[in-house]
Amino acid sequence: MNTLDIVILAAGQGSRMKSSLPKVLHTIGGKPMLQHVIDNASSLSEAKLHIVIGHEAEHVKAALSGQDVQFALQTEQRGTGHAVAQALPNIADDGVVLVLYGDVPLTQAETMAELVKIAQRGQLGLLTVNLDDPTGYGRIVRSDAGDVVAIVEHKDASEAQRAITEVNTGILALSSEQLNDWIPQLSANNAQGEYYLTDIIAMAAEQGVRIQAIQPRTTQEVQGVNNRLQQAELERWYQRGQAEALMLNGVSLADPARLDVRGEVSVGHDVTIDINVILDGKVVIGDNVTIEANCIIKDSQIGSGTHIKANSILEQAEVAEHCDIGPFARLRPGTQLASHAKIGNFVETKKANIGVGSKVSHLSYIGDAEVGAGVNIGAGTITCNYDGVNKFTTEIGDDAFIGSNTALVAPVKIGAGATIGAGSTITKTVEDEQLAITRVKQAHLNNWQRPAKKS
Ligand code: UD1
Ligand code: CA
Repeated sequence: MNTLDIVILAAGQGSRMKSSLPKVLHTIGGKPMLQHVIDNASSLSEAKLHIVIGHEAEHVKAALSGQDVQFALQTEQRGTGHAVAQALPNIADDGVVLVLYGDVPLTQAETMAELVKIAQRGQLGLLTVNLDDPTGYGRIVRSDAGDVVAIVEHKDASEAQRAITEVNTGILALSSEQLNDWIPQLSANNAQGEYYLTDIIAMAAEQGVRIQAIQPRTTQEVQGVNNRLQQAELERWYQRGQAEALMLNGVSLADPARLDVRGEVSVGHDVTIDINVILDGKVVIGDNVTIEANCIIKDSQIGSGTHIKANSILEQAEVAEHCDIGPFARLRPGTQLASHAKIGNFVETKKANIGVGSKVSHLSYIGDAEVGAGVNIGAGTITCNYDGVNKFTTEIGDDAFIGSNTALVAPVKIGAGATIGAGSTITKTVEDEQLAITRVKQAHLNNWQRPAKKS
């Protein structure tokens, strides 16, 4: 038997989140909790994923559209056993089943794999954890010999059973043959009137199936999220892990508690990151990159030796080596900087190719632009790329010099080595090496009398 069916329970309402968003779509590290579970589970070999949905089913389904998962609808939430039963018809009957939870986002793939291995030996793999305060959880009941013989839910437990601190995480694995056998035997004859998945433990014990309980490496791995407080706690723990991984890969963090990673970051050596930086989506950072405080970098590549100064925002930008960005720069989608380019304070770029060593140092908007190498764009230069309906491109050749406060009305082309006088509004092609200037000639009136106040 080598098929692996993974059932992820995600039908519950999650009312304690006090949210119109289904609980399992709330995020950790910018990614829906359910997606964390799916991603980790998908890394197991031959895994087929089944998601049990119910509350806000359409919403959850839409959020996962295009992914290789099968849905099972649980219209009424009648307990965890009932939830698993909804997926049973889609499950191969000669393999292994692993049960996970959409609101327990950080269960590690290694832990899942260990449970699967136990089930592949014909035993029941159960993930348990010892808690100082086990209130509310199902208790693990063991025989005198120390074997697990049952799980008793808190509400059904006796005083003596409530003193047990080993609790059920809910995560387990077993053969699908056994599951198929036991699920139909569940009854709702208990304190909550629900079909408890946990009742299969006593059935296994009675039939002499060995139940092997293992523990996770950390309690956070099995921590469920029921409210936003628990979500925030897990988020901090997750972020600590992200920060630690970066530091071990050669990143110096001014404060590991003040970096947020919401995606996948890859880094070179000797990267320095100051406080309050957010790395979002897919971010690739080369060697010797410095990122100052309060920067937000999303889906971007940063070449080696680049320095991003404080309060800069980059989105879908490709930055080559040794660039100088900010402070207060905004690189919008489609910005490409060649090496040694400089984007200074209060400069916004969008769909702009900036050539090697070119500088846009102050207060400019450069959008839909092809800028050559060695270009100097003066303060306050604006590419007027939009006529209210269509967008047009501005082309600037190598070594051009654009004087301050210039409006380049696209479509327009500035030749290589051309010079634009400050304050110009350029609407026509400027040839290579030309000077273009559209300023009104300066007038002088001698002995000018300023207006005086009427008495
Ligand atoms: C369950 C376990 C308990 C364990 C605890 C760990 C049972 C009977 N009890 O209790 O032993 O200590 O988890 O957190 O299994 N769900 C559905 N459909 C349903 C019912 C639940 O999809 O009909 C989902 C919920 O969305 C939730 C998960 O299953 O994600 C657990 O359900 P919940 O009702 O919270 O179980 P607990 O009472 O906490
Ligand atoms: Ca719960």
